[in-house]
Amino acid sequence: MRPEDDIRELAACLDRLRWTVSGLRAGGIQEWRHVPRNLTPAKSEASRPPAGEAALEALGLELKGCTRCRLHSGRKSLVFGEGSVRSGLVFVGEGPGFEEDQQGRPFVGRAGRLLDKMIEAMGFHRPEVYICNVVKCRPPENRTPQSDEIEACSPFLFRQIEALAPKVICALGACAAQTLLGRASPISRLRGRIHFWRGVPLICTFHPAYLLRNAAQKGAAWQDLKEVIGTLRS
Ligand code: URA
Repeated sequence: MRPEDDIRELAACLDRLRWTVSGLRAGGIQEWRHVPRNLTPAKSEASRPPAGEAALEALGLELKGCTRCRLHSGRKSLVFGEGSVRSGLVFVGEGPGFEEDQQGRPFVGRAGRLLDKMIEAMGFHRPEVYICNVVKCRPPENRTPQSDEIEACSPFLFRQIEALAPKVICALGACAAQTLLGRASPISRLRGRIHFWRGVPLICTFHPAYLLRNAAQKGAAWQDLKEVIGTLRS
């Protein structure tokens, strides 16, 4: 490695450290003495236990025919999620739209095509990451899920993420960010730093559907995605 590469790498590390520290400070943590065990990187792909896969499969079965909230009545498909169960990276969106309900797959409409491009720009192929949503059934007219719908479905999202044991979670939009953080702050306040969900680094960014309407925010979203890449590599 050339000295200038070393310096660039060191600058990137310091940048990430600054991000992490400001996130912890904003979360009220002023002092820490050791890295808790649950902040250590997730196990490597090869050594990840298959228990996660079994848990995920069991969860899918448990959700089959779900009628826990009103959203079941308008659905064609329950959109559980898809991707690599061994991926270190999980994207969480809001809920299925029309196309997703038709196909039973997350993010396959216009917003999904933008998400695919974002994933490719990060240096991954879509099947290498895992994609899911807060609610698994389409809200009518693609409205934002209501709090009781989120309450009914989020325990399954939480178990899904636990089973996946990712190294990083990327929340797409306010609904995912607020559900995972248990906070009502706007996405503009939640992005720009690293949070933690049950010990897993969580980075919040704009929803691809929002970016389709507000292209000027794509640069900010790219900054967030670069933090995701940096955290994955750290
Ligand atoms: N928007 C979402 O939040 N999720 C999808 O799966 C599709 C669009």
